[in-house]
Amino acid sequence: MVGFSGKASTKVGLVGFGYWGPKLVRNFSQMPDADLEWVVDLDPTRLARVKAQYPGVRTTSDFEEMLRSDVEAVVVATPIRTHYRLAKAALLAGKHVMVEKPLTASSAEGEELVHIAERMGLTLMVGHTFEYNAAIRTLREIVVSGELGEIHYVDAARLNLGLFQHDINVLWDLAPHDLSILMYVLQRDPVAVSARGSASVRPGIHDVAYVEVRFPDNILAHVHLSWLDPCKVRRVTIVGSKKMVVCNDVSDGEKIRIYDKGVDRTYETDKFDEFHLQYRYGGVQIPHVPFQEPLNMQCEHFVSCVRTGARPQSDGRVGLKVVRVLEQADKSLHNGGAREPLGPAYATAGTGVRNGGVLTSDFQGNRILETQVCNGH
Ligand SMILES: NC(=O)c1ccc[n+]([C@@H]2O[C@H](COP(=O)([O-])OP(=O)(O)OC[C@H]3O[C@@H](n4cnc5c(N)ncnc54)[C@H](O)[C@@H]3O)[C@@H](O)[C@H]2O)c1
Repeated sequence: MVGFSGKASTKVGLVGFGYWGPKLVRNFSQMPDADLEWVVDLDPTRLARVKAQYPGVRTTSDFEEMLRSDVEAVVVATPIRTHYRLAKAALLAGKHVMVEKPLTASSAEGEELVHIAERMGLTLMVGHTFEYNAAIRTLREIVVSGELGEIHYVDAARLNLGLFQHDINVLWDLAPHDLSILMYVLQRDPVAVSARGSASVRPGIHDVAYVEVRFPDNILAHVHLSWLDPCKVRRVTIVGSKKMVVCNDVSDGEKIRIYDKGVDRTYETDKFDEFHLQYRYGGVQIPHVPFQEPLNMQCEHFVSCVRTGARPQSDGRVGLKVVRVLEQADKSLHNGGAREPLGPAYATAGTGVRNGGVLTSDFQGNRILETQVCNGH
């Protein structure tokens, strides 16, 4: 088939048609520049469902069979423990790869995937969905504009009842979202992390975690994660010296609220330590954030990067940074909340000149590929 660009559509294969896979399949099957050709799953009942919904898509339980075909890009939507093995096999077969979050179950695995992809000149992307979320992009623009002033701290919460996982804890399941949001919005890499939590339902598997992430410039971020909460919460609050902003992803029409609130110090004498605190209670601004399905943006970006050779916004190196923080946070979780440093090797990974296109949006619904020079993100 020929896509919008006049070039033949990119042949895509997906592995893992469980909870998240069908959402990816829906997006790829509707994309003009992509042909979803294969779906792989070990479970025959899942494959029967694919056949019923997408009769033109080939199905198999044999991943190698798909790799032997002419698919150009492989999407991995299987449990985390399998990401490394499947992504590595796909890369070594010469396929471009998008892996669902987090990239891998360890940084050693992630490093290897990054090196293979770079050596072979293949696209490696991780599904950090929130980096393609219009509200989170607006949040980043607000921070970048300087409107908030100096950033004091960030508070994030991702809570709900379920979905309990049996082989990973709440940190590995939910924190990839918040860590990628924090790094993307603050445009800084963390320097230390600590975490505490509890395992109330399944012994040994933490279902609640409180993660403290330290960033340069004395920015403190706190992330509360839970599978055991009565309310669905997906909120990021950023408190700056001039203004404060709340991003509430579960709100329908008011995802971003900018509060002109704060505390100012007024000096009545020329002595630095003699000042009064003046509380500012200003108005609230609610910028319009047009809805664009983040997963659709993510899938389109992947196909676009495969076709143009541009480096994805959430490329393998970005995915690896998140895995390194997860690894250290998990160590802290099992070590009484000790502060774990994120060393210099971590801090420099992936920084420097980005030579590819970085997806951005003007929030009128137009997608723009901009080329930029940046540190980290
Ligand atoms: N971006 C997001 O917001 C988001 C949301 C949910 C899940 N995810 C990610 O998607 C991935 C899948 O999660 P899920 O909740 O759909 O899991 P799931 O357990 O519901 O589904 C996984 C599917 O993969 C299949 N499978 C397992 N091993 C396989 C193998 N070796 N070969 C072929 N098929 C195999 C299983 O049969 C199952 O159908 C995970 O990485 C998860 O973190 C991302």
